[in-house]
Amino acid sequence: MNHPPIFAVILGAGKGTRMRSPLPKVLHKAAGRSLLHYVMGAVSGAGASTLVVVVGHGRNEVWEEAQRFPRKGSLEVWQAFQKEQCGTGQAVSMALPLLPPEADVLIVNGDGPLLSDQSLKLFIENHRKTKASLSIGVMERENPLGYGRVVSKNGRPTKIVEEREASAKEKKIKVVNGGVYLVRSSLLKTLLGQIRPSSQSGEFYLTDIVALAQKAKKKAVAYSFDPRELVGVNDGIQLAEAEFLLRKRWIEEWQREGVRILAPEAFWPEAGVRIESGAIIGPNVVLQGQTIVEKDAELGPGSVLIDTKVGPGAKVRAYTHCESAQISARAEVGPFARLRAGSQVGEGAKVGNFVETKNTILHPGAKANHLSYLGDTEVGADANVGCGFIACNFDGVQKHKTQIGAKAFVGSGVQAVAPIVIGPDSYIASGSTVNRDVPAGALAVARAKQENKEGYATRLRSRMLSRKGK
Ligand code: UD1
Ligand code: MG
Repeated sequence: MNHPPIFAVILGAGKGTRMRSPLPKVLHKAAGRSLLHYVMGAVSGAGASTLVVVVGHGRNEVWEEAQRFPRKGSLEVWQAFQKEQCGTGQAVSMALPLLPPEADVLIVNGDGPLLSDQSLKLFIENHRKTKASLSIGVMERENPLGYGRVVSKNGRPTKIVEEREASAKEKKIKVVNGGVYLVRSSLLKTLLGQIRPSSQSGEFYLTDIVALAQKAKKKAVAYSFDPRELVGVNDGIQLAEAEFLLRKRWIEEWQREGVRILAPEAFWPEAGVRIESGAIIGPNVVLQGQTIVEKDAELGPGSVLIDTKVGPGAKVRAYTHCESAQISARAEVGPFARLRAGSQVGEGAKVGNFVETKNTILHPGAKANHLSYLGDTEVGADANVGCGFIACNFDGVQKHKTQIGAKAFVGSGVQAVAPIVIGPDSYIASGSTVNRDVPAGALAVARAKQENKEGYATRLRSRMLSRKGK
């Protein structure tokens, strides 16, 4: 059967007063992604061909965020402007001129980040199967406080009563409105035209379309969602609840796929993170941005990875911080390492404790195991960088490159004043400060000659003590 196209209307014009924040509500992030992008993801995933985002409070910022949504295929994203926020009913009216007369209009609140595309698809399917004129997404909540209560008769919703207008009896109703609606655009237009402002708040409530549909003898259907999917974010408590539920959803998916998560209650992934089977995630790990953890990799306790790729079988040990870094297969990093932007650790290479790298490549098998700074440095395959090495890469104005050849041995406490090329197979004596290139296979010693004065220390000490006695 040929169905009309689905146009989604996303309500995002509200200020979100209860968030107590200058940021427009739908721009708040839950686990790394804006509420708006979650909702856009759900409705586009459910088959909407065009998304009309109703913007108002913080219009420009909200519209910019809407445009940043990664579009797939021929998806269109449009805006409707609600100048003053006089309620959800008025917000939808602003989108009406953009809707073709015979579209199915899927209306969703912009503050429900847990809504999934799969459930929305079932909702749409049910609407078509039951030949409903209006469908609303509902859920049952032990504590319905703050949500619109759904009043029903003979199994059909007859009206939605908002918290502030509800009678004591209505307040006891546990079936509440989840802020998801589906209706043909022509009927929507008729119903919206009949909404009168609330006597309590003066707002035009979208939820009134249910009672109006009943009056017009149109079939309204309530479709039950898993209550975890319809959490609306109105304040900081609900934002934290939404983040908790999002993470729980991802964590359970990973667990089903064979990722071992040692402390699911203390794991902090964000939207966009990917983890492959066999990976082991320690307690208090934070994963942000486009981080990818490949097969069988291990992340130790407290490691923080931002936009970082961890190759198969690699080990990131406790309290390591990585940003825009790449760790190749079987490499080992940390504990307490810091990989800054542009760090690449090759296959089987090692970066140990208190080593900081920035814009640096360690080729396969290279090692920098202790207390070093490697900035703008390239370390050749199987080279060894000793404890306390410093790449002196910055002259106060410009950055310069340090190149260390394959299998070179850089002793402890070496400082390389860049730009400098340290040849392959060379050997740099510990404690050297090198500022000239070192040829391949050469030994470089660049430190003051040692002089020992026999018995001098003993004499010096007794002289000092006798001076103190006087
Ligand atoms: C709304 C519903 C309530 C439902 C709940 C589910 C109404 C009147 N009430 O209440 O029945 O249980 O969602 O989460 O719809 N917005 C605008 N323009 C406005 C006002 C709001 O675009 O003038 C947007 C907001 O940005 C928000 C969405 O509409 O994304 C819902 O508004 P909100 O104030 O959160 O409504 P609730 O009180 O949660
Ligand atoms: Mg809300």
